[in-house]
Amino acid sequence: MKLDVLLGLQWGDEGKGKIVDVLTPEYDIIARFQGGPNAGHTLEIGEIKHILHNIPSGIFHKEKINIIGNGVVLDPVVFRKEIESLKKLGIDLRQNLYISKKAHLILPTHRILDAASEAAKGKSKIGSTLKGIGPTYMDKTGRNGLRVGDIFSGFKEKYSALRKKHERLLKLYTYEYELDEVEKKWFKCIELLKEFKIVDSEYLVNKLIRDGKSILAEGAQGTLLDIEFGSYPFVTSSNTISAGACIGLGVAPQTIGEVFGVFKAYCTRVGSGPFPTELSDDTGAELRKKGVEFGATTGRPRRCGWVDLVALKYSVMINGVTRLIMTKADVLSGFRTIKAATAYKVDGKTIHDFPFMIDKNTEPVYTELPGWKSDISNIKDPGEFPDELKKYISFIEKELNVPVSYVSVGPNRNQIVKL
Ligand code: GDP
Ligand code: IMO
Ligand code: MG
Repeated sequence: MKLDVLLGLQWGDEGKGKIVDVLTPEYDIIARFQGGPNAGHTLEIGEIKHILHNIPSGIFHKEKINIIGNGVVLDPVVFRKEIESLKKLGIDLRQNLYISKKAHLILPTHRILDAASEAAKGKSKIGSTLKGIGPTYMDKTGRNGLRVGDIFSGFKEKYSALRKKHERLLKLYTYEYELDEVEKKWFKCIELLKEFKIVDSEYLVNKLIRDGKSILAEGAQGTLLDIEFGSYPFVTSSNTISAGACIGLGVAPQTIGEVFGVFKAYCTRVGSGPFPTELSDDTGAELRKKGVEFGATTGRPRRCGWVDLVALKYSVMINGVTRLIMTKADVLSGFRTIKAATAYKVDGKTIHDFPFMIDKNTEPVYTELPGWKSDISNIKDPGEFPDELKKYISFIEKELNVPVSYVSVGPNRNQIVKL
């Protein structure tokens, strides 16, 4: 059996959580491979609305196995909160959640360093979620990090050494912080972590594949936030792309089957950084209102704009996307015309590649398509889609040269149309 990957093609929040939940019945295992609690994956199941940060989005299917892979950075405090709120919904993960020994831990001081670094950057801040992601991955690549497997022996000493290093670093900033209380809470949460199945997840994943099981690797963030290929430096600190699934789970490239690329029918971004198709006008505000575009992790309003096919083409190439999944098509109902950027104009020259540097001179070149009026949120059969939506989908398929396999028409689990 193979491992399929599902990931975001834009700047995150494409609706990955919902789609993973929808596809979970087709798999035995759901595995997160990178990122941490900067992610906020929303699932709506009937009346329940639930946001996941560290935990894979397969957990509402009780019989499935969920894995937090080695590429993930884990905050034990956020983890405890998630476990507790899931318990209230009758979900206990002690039996079917496996956590990699090699996943790195987010320390309280990582979060403080994140906040201090962002504050010092002033106007040029990244717009981080302030969950400690950057400092934790810095310690990982700097070979100073603490891993989940470390909690079983000599942990306090290792922790103290890293805390001391962080305190020295924090002296570089004029940033006030309180550590003792948060540290106490953090250590309590470490104790909770010990109740879970902490494993060599690379062996587990490869054994499951050998045994004929099917795995869906759940991406977090989006391709344009990737540390290598995103809009650097306004990116996250991990590899959000399909290759990241190999690194973050310990699987060989040839084990990858389908690569599902999830994208919104328009585009959003939260945090700083370039966004060529951003709309700072009434249309942007309308997209935000209709799409309820507020961050699942931070509550910040998301910046909104038209779909950017230059960026999407780039994302399809980097990830080797085999199937597209369009979300939030329902949000576009009622717009008289819809625009899609098919090129950029830079200093009078038309370009079709996603450039090294995107700035105010990078102007989108749009193709305009007619919109549709009707509400599509209850449609189950693609034949019932308005002609204009059918044309929009075909246009995108032609531009990206990849078929659209699903269209999501609302936040709920059952609002999905298979093409
Ligand atoms: P993720 O980070 O990629 O999992 O996405 P988020 O959960 O951060 O943001 C997506 C938001 O859109 C959530 O509030 C979802 O409930 C919602 N959503 C997902 N798919 C659809 C859809 O097709 N239509 C509408 N209207 N909302 C959707
Ligand atoms: P999901 O998985 C949207 C953005 C932040 C910021 C930049 C760096 O829900 O799609 P970080 O906290 O990683 O240092 O922030 O990346 N960002 C996200 N934006 N969705 C996410 O995750 C994001 N994770 C990080 O807003 O601009
Ligand atoms: Mg999100």
